[in-house]
Amino acid sequence: MTLWHGRFSTGMSDALWDLSESYSFDHVLWRHDLMGSRAHVRGLGRAGIVSAEEMTLLLETLDAVEEEFASGVFVRTPSDEDIHMAIERRVTEIAGPTGAKLHTARSRNDQVATTLRLFTRDAVTDIAARALGLAATLHEVGERYPDVYLPGYTHLQRAQPVLLSHHVRAHAWALVRDVDRLLSSRDRANISPLGAGALAGTSLPISPEETAKDLGFSRAFENSLDAVSDRDFVAEALFNIALLGVHCSRLGEELVLWTTSEFGFASLTDDFTTGSSMLPQKKNSDVAELARGKSGRLVGNLTGLLVTLKGLPLSYNRDLQEDKEPLFDSVRQIHLVLTALSGAYGSIEIHSDVTRAAADDPLIAAIDLAEWMVVRGTPFRQAHEHVGALVGRSVRDGVPLVDLVAADPVLADARDILSQGAALTRRTSPGGSGPTPATRQRELLMNELRRAEQRLRDAH
Ligand code: ARG
Repeated sequence: MTLWHGRFSTGMSDALWDLSESYSFDHVLWRHDLMGSRAHVRGLGRAGIVSAEEMTLLLETLDAVEEEFASGVFVRTPSDEDIHMAIERRVTEIAGPTGAKLHTARSRNDQVATTLRLFTRDAVTDIAARALGLAATLHEVGERYPDVYLPGYTHLQRAQPVLLSHHVRAHAWALVRDVDRLLSSRDRANISPLGAGALAGTSLPISPEETAKDLGFSRAFENSLDAVSDRDFVAEALFNIALLGVHCSRLGEELVLWTTSEFGFASLTDDFTTGSSMLPQKKNSDVAELARGKSGRLVGNLTGLLVTLKGLPLSYNRDLQEDKEPLFDSVRQIHLVLTALSGAYGSIEIHSDVTRAAADDPLIAAIDLAEWMVVRGTPFRQAHEHVGALVGRSVRDGVPLVDLVAADPVLADARDILSQGAALTRRTSPGGSGPTPATRQRELLMNELRRAEQRLRDAH
């Protein structure tokens, strides 16, 4: 029997039941739903809607139900449509007529919004902590290989030499932005809808502000219709996870490239690689490929929810039940990706001989030859053309650039620029990729990591 059977003469068809039940996936919300119910009961007690004894009995019963969930013995009955009804049904079984007062001045509409906000608040905080963990791991890789450099690429063509620490810090900066975004979306999720009722509030003397405070929300809703309709906090969480997933995907793509025989820049340890069922020699970077591959479904989860929300009139519509599976999936997947990617990067081995050889490709120093001419008074465009012509000749005729430079009347004195590592040390401008700006940048990133850590601590 459903909790609303009073108005109906027959039960639900199996087909509708199968379509509409959500317990099969929203049962994971039990802890947050019980948290919301406790605050609601305390509010009913404060308002005198239930007596002190009834409040105590309800709170004890909610504790007992929590214990059943925590120990895995909670049993769903066939009429439990979702987690909210399952808990209310059980509370009523245990507490009798007092249990039937639990849902006073509350609707599942404000209840589910409250529960999901509590869940999202925790989830985004946890993901932010893990994203920051990956940023710290990347920073550590830079610390382990302070002098290693590699080619920096544009268009995946060798462009200019960069310190490895500069390269991994670039990824870390993106992750720190993810942490910030997740934590600011947390602020918007951290508003209580409890007390909005079905859509328009209630005639009973409840205080949404007090239940908001009880639940650690920063404040209560302003508008009851908005409170039960709003899933922006889910969309924001999904976007932030999707973008973080895209960053992990780019990291993954790079690891896939770096660990090929063709690049040979890095190896992953055996515990973070997989073999082939057929080809004995294979050592595959599946971890990186999955980090790349998972981003597709993270973007899909965001897109799906936005489309679900797009056509909805105010206020609650059952379509909103479709907010949960994408959210749960994205939270779970990003957790898996961040953990595995941190592990893989934590033990990565960089082959500095290979990266150095690639970065000392003389053509990479072409810009430095041009800038050498600029310092001596040649307009940049002219210098660019002069060096470009030498590069063209070197490539076409197969003559080493260094020989052409040595024989060039303008550039003969510049040939040291083509010696090992020289182009790297010439990257001196602030924020650039050479050793001179590196000290400052290391400090800046470390400050940023500390600031994000503090922000996370404040969020708890
Ligand atoms: N399981 C529902 C959901 O996730 C709970 C809210 C149901 N409200 C309603 N009016 N049917 O959205």
